[in-house]
Formats: sequence, C-alpha cells, structure tokens
Amino acid sequence: MKFKLFRAPEGRNGGPADPTDAPRMGGQVLPAADAAAERQRDAAATPLAPAPKPAVGAGGPVGATKICARDVSVFYGDKQALYDVSLDIPDKTVTALIGPSGCGKSTFLRTMNRMNDTIPHARVTGRIEMDGEDINAKSVDPVLLRARVGMVFQKPNPFPKSIYENVAYGPRIHGLATSKGELDDIVQASLKRAGLWEEVADRLHSPGTGLSGGQQQRLVIARAIAVEPEVILMDEPCSALDPIATAKIEELIDELRERYCIVIVTHSMAQAARVSQRTAFFHLGRLVETGDTEDIFTNPRERRTLDYITGRFG
Ligand SMILES: Nc1ncnc2c1ncn2[C@@H]1O[C@H](COP(=O)(O)OP(=O)(O)OP(=O)(O)O)[C@@H](O)[C@H]1O
Ligand SMILES: [Mg+2]
Repeated sequence: MKFKLFRAPEGRNGGPADPTDAPRMGGQVLPAADAAAERQRDAAATPLAPAPKPAVGAGGPVGATKICARDVSVFYGDKQALYDVSLDIPDKTVTALIGPSGCGKSTFLRTMNRMNDTIPHARVTGRIEMDGEDINAKSVDPVLLRARVGMVFQKPNPFPKSIYENVAYGPRIHGLATSKGELDDIVQASLKRAGLWEEVADRLHSPGTGLSGGQQQRLVIARAIAVEPEVILMDEPCSALDPIATAKIEELIDELRERYCIVIVTHSMAQAARVSQRTAFFHLGRLVETGDTEDIFTNPRERRTLDYITGRFG
C-alpha cells in the first residue's frame, strides 16, 4: 500500500578490501605517499571482509532522474553554506557526496527531505523536484515527504523501544497495515531486507538500543525501509562502525540500490568507489564536479577533485 506525498490542495505545509584499492589516476596507481594518505583516511572504514563489488570501476547503468536540484542555495542566518547547486540524482543508483569537512554535504542531503526546515535559522532557495514535483511546494507535507525520503545518520539512533516497535512505528502511524498480522509481515520483511532478521528473530521484543552499533544501523535502515521509501539518504552511515559492520552495510547498500535511489555522504574515498555509481564532489559550498564514479576517480576534470581524492587536502 502506498501513501501520497501530496496532501489535498487545502492541506498546509503541514573484492577483498585490498589496501591497494586506493584510487588510481588515469589508470596509474597513486604514488605511495598518496596511497598511504588514502589508507590512513580510510583506516576506520575499510572493511576486511570481501567488498560487495570490485573497487574503482564497478560502475553499471544508472536509473532515470529521481531528484532534480536546480540552483539550490542554503543559508544559516547570514551565512551561506551552499551556492547554486544543480544536480540530478538517478533512481536505483548509489550517488556518493564527497568533499572536505564543512563543504555542505550534510546541508545538501538535508535539502532533499526538507530536514533543513527543522533548523530555525536555515533558509533554502532554488528548486528541488522529486519525480518532477516541487518538494518545497506548500501542498507537500514534510512528514510524508520524509517517509518517502528516509534518512540514516552517522550515529545509529534507534528509538528507546523494542526492535519490533522501532520498525512497526512508521507503518503504524502512516496506516500501512490494517491488522497485527500485516504489521508483523512488514516488520519481518523490513528486517530481512536490512539483513538483520536472522540476528534478531528470537528477540524482537528486546530493546533496539541493546544491539551492537552495526546491528543498530541496520535496524535504523529497516525502520526507514518499513514505510516504503523511494529514496534513502545516508549521512556517513559507517563512520561509527568497525570494518566488519561497515562491510555489511556496504553490502546492504549494494542490494538496496536495486529498489531505491540512494544518496550517501562519505569521507572514505575507498567506500565511495566501492558502493557508488555516481559521485558528486563538493568544495566550499559549491558542487565542483559530478559524474560516473569511475570517471571521477580515474579521470577527474577539475584540479580540486584530483587534489581531494588523492589526499592533498581535506
Ligand atoms: N545548524 C547550523 N547552523 C549554522 N551553520 C551550520 C549549521 N549546519 C551546518 N552549518 C555550517 O554550514 C557549512 C556546511 O556544513 P555541513 O554540515 O553541511 O558540512 P559537511 O560537508 O557535512 O561537513 P562534515 O564532513 O564535517 O560533516 C559549515 O560551514 C557549517 O558550519
Ligand atoms: Mg556532514
């Protein structure tokens, strides 16, 4: 069962992670110093277990445009954090947002489900369309939008409730189940799709906060999936996880992209190369360059992109 994004018009706003998989430029392996810097930066997030796909060059076809951002600027009070960003985000594809700290990645991510609305002094200009419809239109209910455009944060944030309730909460408030049996089915299917079912099937009524960090992150993903989203935004979803848990999440992201449009912010170049098909590089609030991940990592057009992915700054 699907629910509508828009209210009636009268509604108001309401391969193994080989350390040598560091980026290559123009087919050349990076100089040792760059590769070392890359390894250092990725140390926390590089999985030891097999990665879901070969590293750079995984590529693959991308879907039709799901989200279209045009001239998007964001201001926090008088301070402008994002400048005229125009970017097409394809469906059934993982798009990675990369760039140094403070360049506006999270700010841009939040424009796609209107989370900036919740920051009192934040102001967004420009246009963002999902499936051709303006998500900032007065007729759009941000709560429904956020169900269609789910978000997963850096730190897993399960509700202080049972595992079952964490997943059942959204479908219940959105009326997606008409019986307890249906709700049980949604909970089970969501946990299965998030790759967590086997680990929690016998303790569904234990607190979600009692799970490990990696399990909590998969629980949060199950919670997002349970309300049948179309887009999943992930803001550094693996940065608090160990390499094994990171590998599981990366594998999951790769599976999820068959059904969803996924946008992931990451500081790990190796992760961006492993999980994404498209990459957008931000610097100082501007979108510098976007393209197929393989091209961005092997043959960037801009000097700043080259400098960033080779660890010369950031
Ligand atoms: N709530 C806020 N109030 C004021 N300024 C903010 C707020 N959130 C972000 N900023 C500023 O906007 C700019 C972009 O921040 P943002 O968090 O989007 O960067 P980021 O690329 O996600 O950085 P990081 O990699 O460190 O997470 C920064 O200068 C930041 O200080
Ligand atoms: Mg951020």
